[in-house]
Amino acid sequence: MSFIKEIARRRTFGIISHPDAGKTTLTEKLLLFGGAIQEAGAVKSNKIKKGATSDFMEIERQRGISVATSVLAFEYNGIKINILDTPGHKDFAEDTFRTLTAVDSVIVVIDVAKGVEEQTEKLVEVCRMRNIPMIVFINKLDREGKDAFDLLDEIEQKLGLTITPLSFPIGMGYDFKGIYNIWERNINLFSGDSRKNIEETIKISDLGSSELNKLVGDKASETLREELELVHGVYPDFDKDEYLHGKLQPVFFGSALNNFGVRELLDCFVEIAPKPRPKQSEERLVKADEKDFTGFVFKIHANMDPNHRDRLAFVKIVSGQFKRNTPYLHVRHGKKLKFSSPNAFFAEKKEIVDVSYPGDIVGLHDTGNFKIGDTLTEGETINYKGIPNFSPEHFRYINNADPLKSKQLFKGIDQLMDEGVAQLFTLELNGRKVIGTVGALQYEVIQYRLEHEYGAKCTYENLNVHKACWVETQDERSEEYQEFLRVKQRYLAKDKQGQLVFLADSAFSLQMTQQKYPKIKFHFTSEFD
Ligand code: G4P
Repeated sequence: MSFIKEIARRRTFGIISHPDAGKTTLTEKLLLFGGAIQEAGAVKSNKIKKGATSDFMEIERQRGISVATSVLAFEYNGIKINILDTPGHKDFAEDTFRTLTAVDSVIVVIDVAKGVEEQTEKLVEVCRMRNIPMIVFINKLDREGKDAFDLLDEIEQKLGLTITPLSFPIGMGYDFKGIYNIWERNINLFSGDSRKNIEETIKISDLGSSELNKLVGDKASETLREELELVHGVYPDFDKDEYLHGKLQPVFFGSALNNFGVRELLDCFVEIAPKPRPKQSEERLVKADEKDFTGFVFKIHANMDPNHRDRLAFVKIVSGQFKRNTPYLHVRHGKKLKFSSPNAFFAEKKEIVDVSYPGDIVGLHDTGNFKIGDTLTEGETINYKGIPNFSPEHFRYINNADPLKSKQLFKGIDQLMDEGVAQLFTLELNGRKVIGTVGALQYEVIQYRLEHEYGAKCTYENLNVHKACWVETQDERSEEYQEFLRVKQRYLAKDKQGQLVFLADSAFSLQMTQQKYPKIKFHFTSEFD
């Protein structure tokens, strides 16, 4: 197959949701359609169960699962689909943000009873800022839930989306009869009292026909007609171009657990979802069909086998073909590297591959060369943008608890930070090291991994920091900036890239500092224009 055809048949996306909305269940059903797995229950959820915070075996088990489910690839009707896993647990939100730099589109899963939840809001905001095309799937329709129109309003208001339903439920809760598919103009009816199975899919080209009344009864068909008229009047018509530019989000209703509406979602997805999109580097926009290979690291995973120190770096291929045993330029190091056993991912297994194409993810064995955000090319010096660090939520001093193992401790901290487990700040005043994380759980993960993988011991000490702010000035020699450096020295630190960071101890002190030094800019992420 030609290079261009290979690109055109790839769809790389992520499923995002608040925990428990049904992301794992939906992923599993999609894999079943692709024939990638044979039975339900094969995809393990990688969510950290509540109360598991001190159970290290649980954390290790989860890490194992999260390698297995990092990329789930399968074929459907000649289309190669790559699903990138995004952890739902909020302590790992930064992992999810980074994964979103590697997807070409997303599916947002919402629980019909719970509506828009906190984690969904945050993740959708990131996608909206990047104009990532999104499809919304409202799940658990077999249960009593919110009124469809109320829920659609909530989605528009809380998520700031412009939506258009492409399917619509017939009845609700106890009276739930099935789903009318606006996209395909047919009906899925659900059978029996349990409404557990799809009875049949019936083509309805004319909504006014009496056939509809025969199928779902007079009352339900009247209501459906009214509701669809309202849908037609209130929501814009679906426009693929608008969807592809992140300006319009189609909505599907269904029940992942019972496989209602999942095939319809998948069929529409393969038809409308974008093929590998161009990506902006600091130097230029790179298109997927360019001849030369380029790609970037969006995730690093330490190997689970303690006898092997190597790690797996996940590279998204942006352009060209990635070939095994070919030297590629590691732009940050300015040196060429060859990879003899790049892994490709298929459902739940990985295999060595000779060639991969734009949209694909390859897993490269790494002994410490890579960090998140690194770019690989055939020789051109370009740096992919878009993996900034966000201000952590928690901050603690890290202390060495075993003076004989300080080398191991520093190596361990260094490598764990490159993996993106947390962020390291070094105080300007005294060189003390501070670890910043999104969730408290990471401190336990770090302590455990330092001990088991590097033989080092650490303790933590609380530090009162409200936000880390990356500092920007136009003139380093100005009086204002020099005074800021002097007065705030106690609160200044360098991040791992050597950028200056102001660790504000409260919202109030941040506000006062901003007022006092109006020419200095304080950013909550490490990248700014
Ligand atoms: P997540 O990955 O988004 O966190 O959610 P997951 O798929 O694990 O689903 C969370 C719970 O919701 C699971 O139940 C799952 O069975 C249930 N669920 C998913 N889709 C549907 C649906 O369409 N209808 C109904 N009624 N339930 C659904 P659980 O009891 O937490 O787990 P399990 O013991 O069933 O695995």
